[in-house]
Amino acid sequence: MSSSTGKAQAPGYELPWVEKYRPRYLRDVVGNSATVERLRAIEEHGNCPHLLLSGLPGIGKTTSVHCLAHALLGDAYKEAVLELNASDDRGIDVVRSKIKAFAQKKVSLPPGRHKIIVLDEADSMTPGAQQALRRTMEIYAPTTRFCFACNQSNKIIEPIQSRCAILRFGRISDEELLRRLLQICEAEHVKYSDEGLAAVVFTAEGDMRQAVNNLQSTWTGMGYVSPDNVFKVCDQPHPLVVRDVLDKCYAGRVDSALDQLESLWSLGYSSLDIVTTLFRVVRTMDSLPEAVKLEYIREIGWTHMRTLEGVATLLQLSALVARLAKLVRMRVGAMHPSTNEHVAGHGPSAICAEVECGSEHPSMHTQRHTG
Ligand SMILES: Nc1ncnc2c1ncn2[C@@H]1O[C@H](COP(=O)(O)OP(=O)(O)O)[C@@H](O)[C@H]1O
Ligand SMILES: [Mg+2]
Repeated sequence: MSSSTGKAQAPGYELPWVEKYRPRYLRDVVGNSATVERLRAIEEHGNCPHLLLSGLPGIGKTTSVHCLAHALLGDAYKEAVLELNASDDRGIDVVRSKIKAFAQKKVSLPPGRHKIIVLDEADSMTPGAQQALRRTMEIYAPTTRFCFACNQSNKIIEPIQSRCAILRFGRISDEELLRRLLQICEAEHVKYSDEGLAAVVFTAEGDMRQAVNNLQSTWTGMGYVSPDNVFKVCDQPHPLVVRDVLDKCYAGRVDSALDQLESLWSLGYSSLDIVTTLFRVVRTMDSLPEAVKLEYIREIGWTHMRTLEGVATLLQLSALVARLAKLVRMRVGAMHPSTNEHVAGHGPSAICAEVECGSEHPSMHTQRHTG
């Protein structure tokens, strides 16, 4: 494939696929088409402003900056690009000495081009070091441009943000991830099933680096990319089992849902693993009516919050499962009073009131159910 460096490797030694298939040209960067389009406009125009790229990990920020620098500088890339990332020392002294020295260095460049300083993972620079950059950026702007890449743009001080063109990167869509994985599978002769690749996409959550790494781990570790192998290698709860828990809740079979939950728990998955998988699975369950799905998402959201607050127990998850099973019963009861015999002692109107009360006063709801 065109984007791969794809050079022949020494036998027995293989580059990680994330490096092997790191795009070389902006046209090969997958997803975020509007943002990449802006970068391509800069590439064509040649006059690179100071840039600030922000977004989640593994979606192509570092790659895009390097593609742009390659395109702008060509053979001068080696001399005219200074990259400093979180693993380099980037305190105030370095900013003052190393960056200044590079900015003052004379390099012969194609006409109209500038030297580029790439500050990767810039959100890990101390505010002091960032402050020290302000004036430097202005003084050397005629010859040197700065490209910052970070996960959270709010950790970059305002004065730097206002000097940069800000480009935001979003998650990569499942289709785009899948397309890329298919290309890699073909190039690497990977044996896979369609469900296996869907599982890789599911585990990656829009993160291309994770997707490619999971694909490689599964292929090298198990020799075949099937859903079971993927979830084994990635050590995540199997979505089908999680889906089963939800199906059972929806059918009102709370006992078997709890059994299923306990068996997941006994496999060693943490509360957070289970609750995040519940959320991701419920979103994709077309078998649930929209209203039920929304209520489920809200309940799972509450449990997620409590788990993050530290109540990461099986009891907490069991309470969630019980509530999910109960929600549907209440809904059915409210809609069809005649089918409501099993909720003894609660008239339909009382149940409706309870549901509404829960939805309007989440705090009461939380207190009632805190496990
Ligand atoms: N948009 C993308 N298109 C193609 N490959 C990508 C993309 N984003 C990430 N990758 C893959 O993931 C690896 C890491 O990407 P990188 O640009 O370093 O991510 P980050 O956004 O964290 O800086 C790359 O080497 C490449 O293999
Ligand atoms: Mg990066």
